Amino acid sequence: MHEFHHERARALLANATQIVDPQQVQDAVKRVADRLNARFDLEGATEFPLVLGVMGGAVVFTGNLLPQLSFPLDFDYIHVSRYGDEDRGGEIVWKVIPRQNVVGRKIVVVDDILDEGETLAHVKQRLLDMGAAEVIVVVFADKDLGRAKPIQADLVGLSLPNKFVVGFGMDVYGYWRNLPGLWTIRPEDLKQPA
Ligand code: IMP
Ligand code: MG
Repeated sequence: MHEFHHERARALLANATQIVDPQQVQDAVKRVADRLNARFDLEGATEFPLVLGVMGGAVVFTGNLLPQLSFPLDFDYIHVSRYGDEDRGGEIVWKVIPRQNVVGRKIVVVDDILDEGETLAHVKQRLLDMGAAEVIVVVFADKDLGRAKPIQADLVGLSLPNKFVVGFGMDVYGYWRNLPGLWTIRPEDLKQPA
């Protein structure tokens, strides 16, 4: 069982291509942090936004971003996924729902990637329905689908081509969230049964 996963993860990476190197990843994180600091780290400001990480994909981006934010903030997380094919989104499933601490708050939602936008559109609506005062959507990457999405991010670290990527929190079959750069997986490698 462990051998199977080890071998499969290695084989997927052996066929993958790095499209964003670790330095470019860190540059993108810094750009996002600078923009958030310009928005919230203001003289005389009294805001206290709630930064809400969307687990599991946002764990690495959030962990890299938080130490670069220079204003008082509160942190919490939600956990939501889309089930279906591994490489194509399906039904939205909540694993950890937002808590009452979102009521009346200015919320900075942090996620890994905006793909079809179903997940973040759903998350934003749920937060507003619960009484959030404002929802600012921040994504590490935005996939260029060449068509409109149900939600747009307020801040984007990187724009990516419409390919399946892994690394910096993003996974294929649960593998390779730990890569410090971004790699594209071959389309034929996304069709294997789990
Ligand atoms: P959306 O609802 O299609 O925008 O799906 C967004 C979620 O799907 C992201 O938060 C990721 O968890 C996952 N996802 C979308 N594209 C990729 C990808 O290329 N690699 C890994 N995960 C992805
Ligand atoms: Mg996600």
